[in-house]
Amino acid sequence: MTGGRLGGVDAEREAQLLFRVIDTISAGLDLGRMLQGVATLVTETTVTDVCFVHLLDEKGRVLRLHGATPPFDGLVGKIELAVGEGVSGWVAEHGEPVVITDDKTADPRYRYIPALRGEEFTSMLSVPIVTPLGHLVGVLNVHTRARREFTGADVELLRSVAGLVAGAIENARLHRRLAEREEALESFAERIVQWQERESRRLAGEIHDGISQRIVSLFFHLSAAADAITADPAVAAEQVARAQELAAAALDETRSAIAGLRPPVLDDLGLAASLESLGHSFPGLDVRIEADDLAMAGHVETAVYRTAQEALQNAAKHAAAESVLIRLSRHAGRAVLEVSDDGTGFDPGAVQHQAGATMPPTGLGLAGMRERAELLGGTLELTSAPGRGTTVRLAVPFTPRRSPGPGPALPGTPGWPARRQR
Ligand SMILES: Nc1ncnc2c1ncn2[C@@H]1O[C@H](COP(=O)(O)OP(=O)(O)OP(=O)(O)O)[C@@H](O)[C@H]1O
Ligand SMILES: [Mg+2]
Repeated sequence: MTGGRLGGVDAEREAQLLFRVIDTISAGLDLGRMLQGVATLVTETTVTDVCFVHLLDEKGRVLRLHGATPPFDGLVGKIELAVGEGVSGWVAEHGEPVVITDDKTADPRYRYIPALRGEEFTSMLSVPIVTPLGHLVGVLNVHTRARREFTGADVELLRSVAGLVAGAIENARLHRRLAEREEALESFAERIVQWQERESRRLAGEIHDGISQRIVSLFFHLSAAADAITADPAVAAEQVARAQELAAAALDETRSAIAGLRPPVLDDLGLAASLESLGHSFPGLDVRIEADDLAMAGHVETAVYRTAQEALQNAAKHAAAESVLIRLSRHAGRAVLEVSDDGTGFDPGAVQHQAGATMPPTGLGLAGMRERAELLGGTLELTSAPGRGTTVRLAVPFTPRRSPGPGPALPGTPGWPARRQR
């Protein structure tokens, strides 16, 4: 160790700097305050004038200023550099430190950013912030007003600081991601409960208003038939015929109430053939299906089927489309459904805006499709523009069906007559 360290920092001060950095990063501060603290420590201990900490964004394309010593602390969050841009961008791209002793502007890597007042500083040292596993998370820079030679040992010291900070940054990010996931799970759980309540209300409504009314009338017609059976067989026969009609209607309504939970056609035909059959139920549309036979868990198949159904209904209702292509395949652990129409298209942004303001949370239409996708941990993308048709793309985690063969029978529906294709 020689006197050539940052401003003559000796081994003891060096160790002290590292200890204080460790103290700062383990103080449980949020990421911003921790980086601010580290930047201040670095300038104080290394006798440099300013320190900047730029962090790489999650996509690894942009460096954003996350920590800076006064008077630049007000710029935190406001300075961005693309990877490859300026000295910091170069350091991020190459993963190597850069020392510039003077005349920065002559260095082709240097980019002047007025807010950072580069003209007031002469020498600089920039090091990559890299985790022990070699994962780049940002760039740490120090600048001095007076001209200064940064030695190899100076570079190493700053790299050690950067290494300590890197682990802390990664931990903070992991922690934030975990907290976000926890929040998302909570809101999923809440929405599942709301969804279930809505479904129960819908079923109760359908049973109360439709099915039980029919059964009451059925009862009266059968009583009338029983009363008339000896005195007036013709009236009795008529009442029985009415009762038969009512029984058929009640059966139909029961089926459609249950179809709201899981379309029976899925159990009868499987998903790919159900999509075919769905396509045929829109006589005005030329529907082409390219569906792989994916044997998935019942709830995933229901979501895919319902999404295709709503997208087709929208194509028929709103798009004045002539043809629709439905594709279902498996990609990278996801089941992907695409429904593309050649209709008028629309501006999804405008609809979403309206929808948020006016649509009740009934789970219908686009909002319902999105909700289903989110409940399954998937995504729903809408690509549409006026005059250019619409594509609805649902991607959900592929969940295989547990046992081979058709999906499980619906509870309470054993021995029901097989549903016919309509
Ligand atoms: N394929 C499409 N082509 C053109 N416009 C569409 C298409 N899909 C949706 N839209 C537009 O988006 C709006 C919202 O669609 P959404 O499915 O949410 O509701 P809806 O179809 O009007 O009613 P619901 O689905 O509840 O019966 C539609 O009213 C329509 O203007
Ligand atoms: Mg709709």
